[in-house]
Amino acid sequence: MKTDRQLKELWIKFFTKHGFKRIPGYSIIPENDPTVLFTTAGMHPLVPYLLGEPHPYGDKIFDIQRCIRTNDIDEVGDYSHLTLFEMLGNWTLGECNKKEMIKLSFEFLTSPEYLGLPKERIAVTVFEGNDVAPRDEEAYNAWKECGIKEVFYMPKENNWWALGGGVGPCGPDTEMFYDTGKEKCCESCSPACDCGKYLEIWNDVFMQYRVKNAGEKAEKLERPNIDTGMGLERTVAVLNGAKSVYDSGALRSVIDFINSKAKIGYETNDKSKRAYRIITDHLRSSVFILGDERGVVPSNVGQGYILRRFIRRSINCARDIDLDVECFKDIADIYVDEYGKDYEDIAKNRDFIKEELIKEVEKFSKALEEGHKEFEKVIKGIEKHKEFAKQTGEVVENKISGKAVFRLYDTFGFPFELTKELAEQRGYTVDKNEFDEKFKEHQEKSRVASAGVFKGGLADQSKQSARLHTATHLLLAGLQKMFGKQVVQKGSNITPERLRFDFNLDHKMTKEELAQLEDFVNDAIKREIDVTCQIMTLEQAKAEGAHGTFSNKYGEEVKVYTIGDVSKEICGGPHAENTRELHHFKILKEESSSSGIRRIKAIID
Ligand code: ALA
Repeated sequence: MKTDRQLKELWIKFFTKHGFKRIPGYSIIPENDPTVLFTTAGMHPLVPYLLGEPHPYGDKIFDIQRCIRTNDIDEVGDYSHLTLFEMLGNWTLGECNKKEMIKLSFEFLTSPEYLGLPKERIAVTVFEGNDVAPRDEEAYNAWKECGIKEVFYMPKENNWWALGGGVGPCGPDTEMFYDTGKEKCCESCSPACDCGKYLEIWNDVFMQYRVKNAGEKAEKLERPNIDTGMGLERTVAVLNGAKSVYDSGALRSVIDFINSKAKIGYETNDKSKRAYRIITDHLRSSVFILGDERGVVPSNVGQGYILRRFIRRSINCARDIDLDVECFKDIADIYVDEYGKDYEDIAKNRDFIKEELIKEVEKFSKALEEGHKEFEKVIKGIEKHKEFAKQTGEVVENKISGKAVFRLYDTFGFPFELTKELAEQRGYTVDKNEFDEKFKEHQEKSRVASAGVFKGGLADQSKQSARLHTATHLLLAGLQKMFGKQVVQKGSNITPERLRFDFNLDHKMTKEELAQLEDFVNDAIKREIDVTCQIMTLEQAKAEGAHGTFSNKYGEEVKVYTIGDVSKEICGGPHAENTRELHHFKILKEESSSSGIRRIKAIID
């Protein structure tokens, strides 16, 4: 049996041996990037470096990054899809030697010292070419030279990698699959099939292109890169010959724990299996979001909304297997015990995670109570209609409209099955087709929302975004001057149009305070101060009084941006060259973001 930890250790050993330097993983909540709600891949926080900013650790780096992807949320419950996964990533910046990377990938996958997978069980796909980039014969030949028999050319839909918003570095990729040994589903069965024969475990992206603005055609990158990402949970499953990603590690511990508590067993039927897996997956993601250093709590917007959905969906699934949701906090403990070893913030936030989980469970129970009242109203409405129809001769069926069922689902969190069950008890049916239609529309909307297809952000590296980024440093310096050094950044989100900055403060800022803050920033702008950047060790940065969150995010060498005597921050950049570029700073809004956290929206004009 191979464990998560052993695979991580092999990854570290292998890339260290090949001259790569380990960089720390980032928060799961992206900083300065409005294009997505969560960090979706290891490369995500590295976009500035993939577009040419020098990385303080050099050009060959690797890491282990916690990622959340919600676009496949409806697939969760099968054998391989998870909303949260740990990605083993590595990068070569400024160079794209495909043959060398493919040889490295092959060595890691097949060498007995590392994964030791038989090469006959590995299948790969490469890009077939289009009007932007040619057919990737270089990658094809490199795999053939390694002795891989199954190499498939695939179109852009399969073998082109870009960020969710479609802006930023991108390029053709080569994906590595493990052949599970299942029979081919048909003559043309290939890794593009989702029949379960081929399981994708690793992806090497050749980032030779970039899209500058949404909708534009990709253009060649002057300094291309290689970006690779291996799915930890899936690879561990493959190494253990397991049937699903839920068969080892903390995921298995949670399945077993639920099995010991629920009245309906894991293997009872497909429905129970799915419910177990959804709870196991969704609560793990919830623990990571609640435990993150950026502190997100359930709400109706952004990351908080996704978190709420994870928890509420778990509660609904608990109903399917007759599980008392009280034990969610014990499940949280299992996850904190395991992941707290690697992620300091998760360990630190154990109590907070459990409290917030329970709070949300209670809130949802209340919403369900309200839902019951609403259900009675719906029934009353139909009964009234029937009374009235007696006089007109109209025939009214004992049927609840799909619209009403959907409202119960969407507003009160009533799962479809619950409404159906209650309806049946009263001699009613429900309009499933109409409900399905409404549900589909809603899914489409939330898919767009969670993929976060917005324009801008630091992914576009525009001058205007860089200037707004500099404005956030001045803003924080002003806040610290006014309220003390304990005020720190809790989140930042920049588009070319505006900045949004979250920080801790125990009160709503007064008009006078806001004016004073604006003056502070504008004064720095008027003084036309140069913004300078130095690379130094973390110790040196600390000794020089540079500001930054030091937890789990920075390694030995960091970049420090200095704005004269006003600000000194550890930061990845990019920034304006001189404060004069900011012209004039204006605060549009100051509001509460969550408990103890304030949010400022501001522009420069
Ligand atoms: N960024 C690539 C992926 O997520 C490696 O698959």
